[in-house]
Amino acid sequence: MFFHKQPHPANFRFADAFDATTNELAIGKRKFKVNLEAFEGGVHRLRMEEHGVRYVEHLTEFTPPQPAETSLKLTKSPFGIDLAGFIASPEGMGFGVCGDTWLMALAEPKEALFFGLGEKNFDRMERSGLRTRFWNTDVWSDFHWAHWGEHPADPSYFTTPYLIVKSGETYLGILLTTPYPSFFETPGKDDQRVFVEWQRTYPHLLFGAQGGKPDVWFLVGPTLSELTQKLQKLVGTTPLPPLWALGYHQSKWGYASDADLLDLDKGFTKSKTPCSGLWLDIDYMRGYRVFTVDESRFPNLKALARKLDKTGRKIIPILDPGVKFEPGYAVYDDGKKRDVFCKTPEGSDYVGLVWPGETVFPDFTQKKARDWWAGYVRQLGKQGIEGCWIDMNDPSTGPVDPNDMLFRQGRESHAAHRNEYSLGMQMATRAGFEAAHPGKRVFILSRSGFTGTSRYSAIWSGDNCANYFYLRMSIPCALGMSLSGQPFNGADLGGFGGDPTDQLLLDWTKAHFLFPFLRNHSGLGTPPREPFNRKPATAKVMRRYIRLRQQFMPTLYNLFIDQEETGAPMLRPLMFEFDADADLAKISDQFLVGPSLLQAPLVTEKERTRLVHLPKGKWFDACTGDWVKGDVKTRPAASETPLYVREGSVVALWPEGGAEDLREVELHLFIAPKSTGETSFTYRADDGATLAYQKGVRSSITLEATWDAKKLTLKLEPGMDGFGPIHAKLIVHGGPEDAELNGKRASLSNHELILTGDALTCREVS
Ligand code: NOJ
Repeated sequence: MFFHKQPHPANFRFADAFDATTNELAIGKRKFKVNLEAFEGGVHRLRMEEHGVRYVEHLTEFTPPQPAETSLKLTKSPFGIDLAGFIASPEGMGFGVCGDTWLMALAEPKEALFFGLGEKNFDRMERSGLRTRFWNTDVWSDFHWAHWGEHPADPSYFTTPYLIVKSGETYLGILLTTPYPSFFETPGKDDQRVFVEWQRTYPHLLFGAQGGKPDVWFLVGPTLSELTQKLQKLVGTTPLPPLWALGYHQSKWGYASDADLLDLDKGFTKSKTPCSGLWLDIDYMRGYRVFTVDESRFPNLKALARKLDKTGRKIIPILDPGVKFEPGYAVYDDGKKRDVFCKTPEGSDYVGLVWPGETVFPDFTQKKARDWWAGYVRQLGKQGIEGCWIDMNDPSTGPVDPNDMLFRQGRESHAAHRNEYSLGMQMATRAGFEAAHPGKRVFILSRSGFTGTSRYSAIWSGDNCANYFYLRMSIPCALGMSLSGQPFNGADLGGFGGDPTDQLLLDWTKAHFLFPFLRNHSGLGTPPREPFNRKPATAKVMRRYIRLRQQFMPTLYNLFIDQEETGAPMLRPLMFEFDADADLAKISDQFLVGPSLLQAPLVTEKERTRLVHLPKGKWFDACTGDWVKGDVKTRPAASETPLYVREGSVVALWPEGGAEDLREVELHLFIAPKSTGETSFTYRADDGATLAYQKGVRSSITLEATWDAKKLTLKLEPGMDGFGPIHAKLIVHGGPEDAELNGKRASLSNHELILTGDALTCREVS
């Protein structure tokens, strides 16, 4: 695989005529059957099947809406596609082939902007003028350190070949289904990026894959929010995780004994820093043999898990796919007996070189291998483990050429399945935990993934470095994932490689404290990163933000509920909620958490204050408590981290240091001075741990508010009552003195809240 070389249209032969009565298309002697399906809401699927070709089966499951009339037209001669006048093939370039590689071109629509592409580390959210490939890559193994240190390494660990095209107010999504190595090339107008002519990307949008069935979904938004929800439902929303998965997590490659975890537990308890997960990297195993525990260092994992559970912390161990190639090691022998490992072209088990030395690899594309793996995960689960971390599943084979790793008893090529290898591993791992803990929610974090991973696992962005480049890049990368069907994501806080300065560690903590997944993880031999092991002043601020995340848990949790139900991501670019001019659409260093919270973190080493682009409306500065008029670029007062709340919104919080019951909540309503408005917000609570919510064991409460300069009218009404009553304290920021609650005159008493700055005065309504 050449990472930086793309198929070029001049080498392709394109389809000419298309027979709409038989749906037959010819390219020279090659004949294709064209299959166009349409579903409700502007969702289309276009597939080409070449006569005489047997295509392999893949793992991603799609859940399309109901069938509907199509608005996508196929033009006959020359063949092309035309999507309601929005986007169309350039003449004669509708569909082309070059050997096994296929390609489609689309003429660039007017003033097009491009987004999405999943996990890409391009330092910007807008993706025009790029050539990019999809091939799950163990970045630190396949790129020189000088490349990954301060430059965007591409491709990355996670593949989802999905691109968003924005033209005018319409957003279109293009999703390739194939896990074969695929590519996109986006037109770009920026002449400054062109030193020699071949650096200029093709004038048309190009996409395709090196093998597999040409099979593409086209989704019409028209808004970005509608588009993203449609995509998410198509590829699968993320099942509601257990509440503990949303807490702060502590990890490090090097925690290697009972004593290490007990020390951490003590450190977090003593420093009053919330932490819901203690992670075990590869050192807990016996010689890195998967599904073993080194009993000299972990004499009783089950007892340890039980003990830590009492202080509210789960143990999350790592699992690598590579099984030590060692006759006599029970897991290997068992796998060999059941013949679950990937094969070479010569028919023997394929061998790579990973942590334990020579390793063989379960073939997760086969059900028998997934079932086999799930059986071992189930046993691990029975040790009191409720989730895990699956790594090296790109799959990493060390210095050994992965192309010799074949699938399905050696019948199917590496290229056919590489990108979905981790998806199979996620399916098997989830099944194992579900079997171990029926009725409970499962949490899995994976390094690699493919379209559909959202149904099984969260993703972290792999090995990053302790520098500002990676901090900056983490925002467009997370937003790219959020828009491309993988909303449950995060990055190693502080950077996996190297030692962040205290300033960087704090900037990172503040930037990520509301990210969907928050884990402090670092590499072997790196200096201590646990908050309480840093300088006291640093520890204090880290603790403050970790506690603030804890306070925001009811909000985050409700965003995860929304995600499961509607497909809307937790992290959103500004243009997700606001009409986007080109300026707003290109903002890569600000983001929204849900519809109401806007963060503009400090992401450069030198600038200790920054400009914030506030969309229209009025915004509450969470640091100062001042209201700021939107539609401006503003420079906030020296602030811990610029965080704003949108006018008229309701934010659900736990009280500082408060009980961890989702039914005990503060609902904060933000009313801009002298404004008139109304809002309705439904808050939901359940046990945060089991699947009982699916059977109605959930409660909800709805706050309805209307206000003008003189009077505030509030109505708080219980809805679902499956999980017992919700006790909601109502707190108002701003608004008139005269208030009514549920038809009675309300009294307002002063209440203090500390968010990112000093204490804010607000009023409790009773
Ligand atoms: C690579 C992973 O990306 C990293 O997070 C982990 O610590 C090492 N493997 C060791 O397991």
